[in-house]
Amino acid sequence: MAAAVNPRDVAPYLNPSLPPPERAADLLDRMTWEEKIGQLGGVRRAFGTSTGKPTFNRSSFETVHATQNGQVGYGPQANWAHDLLPMMNGLRAEQLNSSRLGIPYIVIADSVNGLWFSGGTLFPGTVSMASSWNLPLYGDVVAAIRDENLAMGVNWVLSPEVDITRDPRNGRNGEMYGEDTYLVGEFATRYVQTMQEKDDGGWVKIATTIKHFVFGAGSGGVNRASMEGGINHILNDLAPPYRKVIPEAQPMSLMASYSTVDGVPMSINKYLLQDVLRSILGFEGLIMSDANAIEYLFTEAKVASSREDAALKALAAGLEHELHPGGHGLFSDLIDPAHGGDPSIASLVNESVRAFLEIKFATGMFDRPLPTVENMKATLRNKRHLGLNRNITRESLVMLKNDGFLPISRDQISSSEGKIAVIGPYADIINAGNYAPADPLDRRYGDSIRRSFERELGRDKIVYAKGTSTILPNYDDDGSADDEAIAEAVDVAKGADLAVIVLGSGFGNFDTSFINNDRTDTEGFAHADLGFPGKQQHLLDAVLDTGVPTVLIMNSGQTFVINDSTMSRCRAIFHAWLAGEFTGDAVVETLLGQVNPSGKLTVTMPQHNGAFPAAYDFLPSDAVGGFGGATLYDWHWPQLTRKAPLAFGFGLSYTTFNFSRASISTQQQRRGNDTSAVSVSVTVTNSGDVAGKEVVQLYYRPQHTIIEFPVMKLIRFVKITLEPGESKEVVLNTVPIKELGYFVNGKWNVDRGNYSFWVGSSSRGEDLTCLDVYIF
Ligand SMILES: *[C@@H]1O[C@H](CO)[C@@H](O)[C@H](O)[C@H]1NC(C)=O
Ligand SMILES: *[C@@H]1O[C@H](CO)[C@@H](O)[C@H](O)[C@H]1NC(C)=O
Ligand SMILES: *[C@@H]1O[C@H](CO)[C@@H](O)[C@H](O)[C@H]1NC(C)=O
Ligand SMILES: *[C@@H]1O[C@H](CO)[C@@H](O)[C@H](O)[C@H]1NC(C)=O
Ligand SMILES: *[C@@H]1O[C@H](CO)[C@@H](O)[C@H](O)[C@H]1NC(C)=O
Ligand SMILES: *[C@@H]1O[C@H](CO)[C@@H](O)[C@H](O)[C@H]1NC(C)=O
Ligand SMILES: *[C@@H]1O[C@H](CO)[C@@H](O)[C@H](O)[C@H]1NC(C)=O
Repeated sequence: MAAAVNPRDVAPYLNPSLPPPERAADLLDRMTWEEKIGQLGGVRRAFGTSTGKPTFNRSSFETVHATQNGQVGYGPQANWAHDLLPMMNGLRAEQLNSSRLGIPYIVIADSVNGLWFSGGTLFPGTVSMASSWNLPLYGDVVAAIRDENLAMGVNWVLSPEVDITRDPRNGRNGEMYGEDTYLVGEFATRYVQTMQEKDDGGWVKIATTIKHFVFGAGSGGVNRASMEGGINHILNDLAPPYRKVIPEAQPMSLMASYSTVDGVPMSINKYLLQDVLRSILGFEGLIMSDANAIEYLFTEAKVASSREDAALKALAAGLEHELHPGGHGLFSDLIDPAHGGDPSIASLVNESVRAFLEIKFATGMFDRPLPTVENMKATLRNKRHLGLNRNITRESLVMLKNDGFLPISRDQISSSEGKIAVIGPYADIINAGNYAPADPLDRRYGDSIRRSFERELGRDKIVYAKGTSTILPNYDDDGSADDEAIAEAVDVAKGADLAVIVLGSGFGNFDTSFINNDRTDTEGFAHADLGFPGKQQHLLDAVLDTGVPTVLIMNSGQTFVINDSTMSRCRAIFHAWLAGEFTGDAVVETLLGQVNPSGKLTVTMPQHNGAFPAAYDFLPSDAVGGFGGATLYDWHWPQLTRKAPLAFGFGLSYTTFNFSRASISTQQQRRGNDTSAVSVSVTVTNSGDVAGKEVVQLYYRPQHTIIEFPVMKLIRFVKITLEPGESKEVVLNTVPIKELGYFVNGKWNVDRGNYSFWVGSSSRGEDLTCLDVYIF
């Protein structure tokens, strides 16, 4: 424990050697009603921005601070760390002075792929990092993200998202890990454990917020839209990551989602927040609102008749802290002393403040010194962080097709007259994702694919054309926009040996207005068409029509429909997701064969605009319904298959891997003994000529269940490295039988009987070996 303090000299809450709950209880006893209400909210965006420099409006700050002073946040992404830290330290010092009891702020921030303002290491988006399927590497990356946040005094993050990517239209998919609950649970648990690691003083480094409880099936793929679904669906299809993260990593807070679930907005959904989240899932941390969500109860959902009514209903349902990005939060309306006199309200406020103070004590807010500029300089973008960033970026690219055309021979390019045409609206920007601090046009955030190519092969080898500026959906388009730009790109392609075309969707430029800046993704955006927005498909088709060998790179947090024509005519296809500041370098290294691709999809790519949900773990009865000859996979019969070929877990390499000698064994005690377990082993051989990495995946399904169970579910995965010709016997971590169950009306059930397991390199049938086992 830190600093030697004589407990007799100070109030118990100031004594760092006492446990957080004891300190919180002591402090609560000393607080006035106004002071308590102050802790229920904060100033989410303390600073504004003007041409990339932080601004501070004292009068608007004071107005909000008077009634909301629990946490404080940094504000816009356009500001830079070195400008912000001294300003934030000033505010924090001032807060300690001005608070009667010396209650410090806690600094709160979003942290999806690094700092939520400029100047940190710009890591790939969540979907990219998950596509690496490399948990140990992800853990190292999260430690780097944590240390950069700590260096900025951020002790509470609004991450990770444990939402399940079930709808390809949703504009926030890039912030999520993927469509599979086991995979999401593994990555999220690693995030929370790493962030909440304790320092030498015993303080939790950074408190985390798992979110958004509960979300994953918003109607129409719209972020704030309602959801349907009963308790079996919620517990089995959306909540498994919570069931994993809560007991194993104990996240200190949780954010309720915007969603209205089965008619009840989550901010007042007492059944899901108390009976399900607290009682069934065992969550003990603080429950906070999503930004403005309490207000929406009154203004949008109309389940409250006034701001005050909304605040009281949310409090009664179990919301304990309010996020409110601008102006007065609704909880601050409870400052009227009459509310303090109502014991039912006062005891809810007591519990909320207690939960909040415990986070502040546990993270050392009363005891840790403010961060220094020296440490910030030593931490942000240090060599190790940049090295980790390159490594995870290389592993996150997913190769979806290669007819043998790749890798490109560097020697051939250098020695010939030939050029590479780099084409497309995403070829010369950094498309970093919804919660990244990147201005896509600002070179300080990294090299675009075009610039990396120029640096690597020389400017004389690269010809570039943007091809189209029309990257917003244009459902009513007359067809002629950008014809000239497309014609120019065609000319550029014709003069080259090879075209690399970069298409996608993105976040736009944060220096211009929120809506009108070419955004298609993020909160508040959804794709009604799953093709490439705007004129991008026209551009691609025109380039393919030239006959010049073409490599397609997708750059987005979304999946797109790759139709048969595109699939067969492109020589190679990659999804680069939102790969961060090393997108360009990693793509170029991979195309030149210096890096062997090893990413795998964590989201199935639909075959057609209307062909979703597309996730691999559908129910058996979702795959039937055709007539005549159609038997098994006749979903959207006769054209499409329920098992979309670009499936969860799929991704190619420049080498080949052979799976052999798959075997399963069980360690079974007497019936009903919880220690029974299953082990699967398989020999993997690198049967090609180059070293590579393979993700060994294990799926399962009980053959007969009480309620319908998906056709298969992921239960283990591990990423291995193999030299050419090398073989390894891979033993997947023992799976306890009790992990193979599912909820039936809120009760965990484990079936005895025959189970099928499948081991292999993707969720596709042709990539798997089946092993049956009887579990008694
Ligand atoms: C709220 O907490 C204070 C301080 O611990 C306590 O004195 C008071 O009785 C509590 N009020 C209610 C209604 O529980
Ligand atoms: C500061 O905020 C107040 C509102 O509290 C506003 O009236 C004023 O215009 C702002 N000042 C500047 C310089 O933006
Ligand atoms: C805090 O209070 C002390 C004593 O009144 C004063 O000297 C100091 O400048 C104050 N610091 C801030 C940041 O307000
Ligand atoms: C990145 O990967 C390389 C190759 O595996 C390894 O040697 C290096 O140590 C890694 N860098 C960091 C910072 O972990
Ligand atoms: C499918 O391919 C055709 C021909 O290339 C193209 O015109 C069309 O836009 C494509 N559709 C989608 C959804 O990508
Ligand atoms: C791959 O493994 C199978 C057994 O599953 C074996 O019969 C075959 O010879 C192997 N092929 C190569 C190229 O190693
Ligand atoms: C399990 O599978 C075996 C072999 O197919 C079969 O004989 C047995 O009846 C099955 N048991 C149950 C409970 O379904």
